[in-house]
Amino acid sequence: MNENNTWERTFVLIKPDGVKRALVGTIISRFERVGLTLTGLKLVSVDTEKAEKHYESHRGKAFFDPLVRLLSSGPVAAMALEGAHAISVVRKIVGSTEPKEAPPGSIRGDFCHMSYARSKERLGVIPNLIHASDSPESAVWELALWFADEDLVQPYERADAGFM
Ligand code: RTP
Ligand code: MG
Repeated sequence: MNENNTWERTFVLIKPDGVKRALVGTIISRFERVGLTLTGLKLVSVDTEKAEKHYESHRGKAFFDPLVRLLSSGPVAAMALEGAHAISVVRKIVGSTEPKEAPPGSIRGDFCHMSYARSKERLGVIPNLIHASDSPESAVWELALWFADEDLVQPYERADAGFM
């Protein structure tokens, strides 16, 4: 199943704003419908330390503290997804960081409410529902931060694999 070199594993986090908007099921199905395989899934309460670690690469930026506050403001849904070109395909499905630039059909384009601009002023950071790894290195690092080895299942063959 994963014998070719396009196979990747990536990490996705539905942030507290996405969980509170009850978008967990809808978001997961966006990844399922393009054939990605879900190999890890859990709800997590995030403390400040974990949020800081997750967004370590943004430390020092003006939005770092607000971002940490936002990520630790409620439960998140963490998942591992696998498949061909999973990292770039997931980023495409997620859409641009700034919701007004995210194309229709993307998660941020379809579900970020345009009142986010007001929330951004109040919070000091863009609430955009979801995080996804941006490179093979960050995927490995983030998966290790959020999942123990035994929390992840081996990739399994989907019933619709190779349907044509
Ligand atoms: P993510 O890491 O969450 O997947 O988002 P991303 O790659 O699209 O964007 P990134 O540049 O990594 O930023 C991380 C998160 O910080 C918030 N942000 N706010 N100017 C701002 O107010 C601002 N810039 C970034 C967003 O929540 C973004 O997703
Ligand atoms: Mg990022």
